[in-house]
Amino acid sequence: MAGSADPWALLQECNKALSGRSILDLFRADASRVRRMSAEVGPLYADYSKHLLDQAAIDALVALARDSDLENGVRSLLDGAEVNSTEQRPALHTALRSAVGRGAIADSARREAEDGVQRIRALVERIHAGEFAGVTGKPIDRLISIGIGGSDLGPRLAVDALSDGGGMRVDFLANVDGTAVSRLLADADPERTLFCVISKSFGTRETLLNASTARRWLAARLGVEETVAGRQFVAVTANPERAMRFGIREDAILPMWDWVGGRYSVWSAVGMPLMAGIGPDRFDAFLAGAAAMDEHFASADFEHNLPVMLALIGIWYRNVQGLPAYAVVPYDDRLGRLHEYLQQLDMESNGKRVTRDGRPVPRATGPICWGGIGTNAQHAFFQWLHQSPDVMPLEFVGVRNPDHDHPVHHRELMANMLGQSWALLAGRSHEATAELLASDGRPPELAPHMAFPGNRPSTTFLLERLDPAALGALLALYEHRVFVQGWIWGINSFDQWGVELGKTLANRVLPWLEGGPVDADDVDGSTIDLIRRLQSDSDLT
Ligand code: F6P
Repeated sequence: MAGSADPWALLQECNKALSGRSILDLFRADASRVRRMSAEVGPLYADYSKHLLDQAAIDALVALARDSDLENGVRSLLDGAEVNSTEQRPALHTALRSAVGRGAIADSARREAEDGVQRIRALVERIHAGEFAGVTGKPIDRLISIGIGGSDLGPRLAVDALSDGGGMRVDFLANVDGTAVSRLLADADPERTLFCVISKSFGTRETLLNASTARRWLAARLGVEETVAGRQFVAVTANPERAMRFGIREDAILPMWDWVGGRYSVWSAVGMPLMAGIGPDRFDAFLAGAAAMDEHFASADFEHNLPVMLALIGIWYRNVQGLPAYAVVPYDDRLGRLHEYLQQLDMESNGKRVTRDGRPVPRATGPICWGGIGTNAQHAFFQWLHQSPDVMPLEFVGVRNPDHDHPVHHRELMANMLGQSWALLAGRSHEATAELLASDGRPPELAPHMAFPGNRPSTTFLLERLDPAALGALLALYEHRVFVQGWIWGINSFDQWGVELGKTLANRVLPWLEGGPVDADDVDGSTIDLIRRLQSDSDLT
């Protein structure tokens, strides 16, 4: 499609050229489509052929990536340039697991990371060996990890996905809702439970309140001073002074660094609960899986580069077709938290409205991410996916080899996954539906209700098995996809100023809920009314 130098305009032309065609037409026209539009990186296979994209559109997307100087973007990320411009920091999560970064900054980050991982390993081995005992001398057999956002979602997802029941029990406490802490502590053995407080800043109020409540509970149950109970705590933080002020011993504090963003930190000591739950060797395999994806990302041509191609397909939907969201549906109960993890990764990274230099972004940026588990989701929101007038690109995640001995279940599960992506793609025309109804003797008026528009796009990921390497590769793939999109939009994917204002105002509301007079003149009527309704001594009638 010659004639247009502006890559965005070229994409619009490609979209116009595709109007009236269906994804099925594209399959019929090209027997090599699946081979061309799929890739395998280690244990992860991705099929992205079920999208309304022809070669001209793919070429235009790749041209957009080149025009955005993506090659430089990838090198900047991996080598440790200050890609987080508002906080003047690199984002060197790749240094936690691979050697793809070049130069002194990446080298030094890698050295710190290696030291860090040795320290976590040593601690976890001591815990597993019973050498890191509780305050009363009993060995630890349960870990409660206290943290929120990036200090929770990654390890929580990975523990859910990879624990096989043979390792140490690991639980997570994130929300400041008192129900969460009460439920977790209800069956905890105070003598054998270790608390791991994870907070990069060690200033997150939810985490600090949960940690204080846990320590008070522990002190009361053990009949010791809180300072003594603090010995049954470890911390992961980039702010060790604050952790020590909280009462955690210096030698029980594992490092975090400014150069790792919270939502990119599961590969660091933030993954300590994961290592505790699955063991150091499987944690290493998790890092190795991510490293394989880093190497692929750093070296494959854009046309064959999985994170780049998936990012470009996302841009096609977001910016060319104007779709606001995508859904992720793993057909594996162990990945039930994948969409929660991706919500932070994608939406906190790319939910931005200004470019790196502070000007309005001229187009839509990060999409909404949502999802649920197959097959459960089929009985919840799939009706909408199949027949609503809105189109939602989907990402299916399946696993070839299950880790249970119910092969019949697995076949049923995988048949459902393929049946759904097929139905979304092929649909069922009004005519075919009418014929079906006639053959069953059912009323023809049902045809419009029972027809399926089809032509609904999806990507399918297949993991060889849900093991640490495959999960590592999948999460690293998503990290890089988010980065590529942010780079092309020209935004900073590594800050999160949008979470600050609500926190600040919550701090202003707190004293009012304690009964203080609402004396500020910048509070709206609705908020004042709700504060009064929540004040414990409210006399509202
Ligand atoms: O939600 C905002 C945020 O800053 C996230 O980016 C971060 O992952 C989370 O809070 C927790 O922060 P911290 O690890 O500093 O407690």
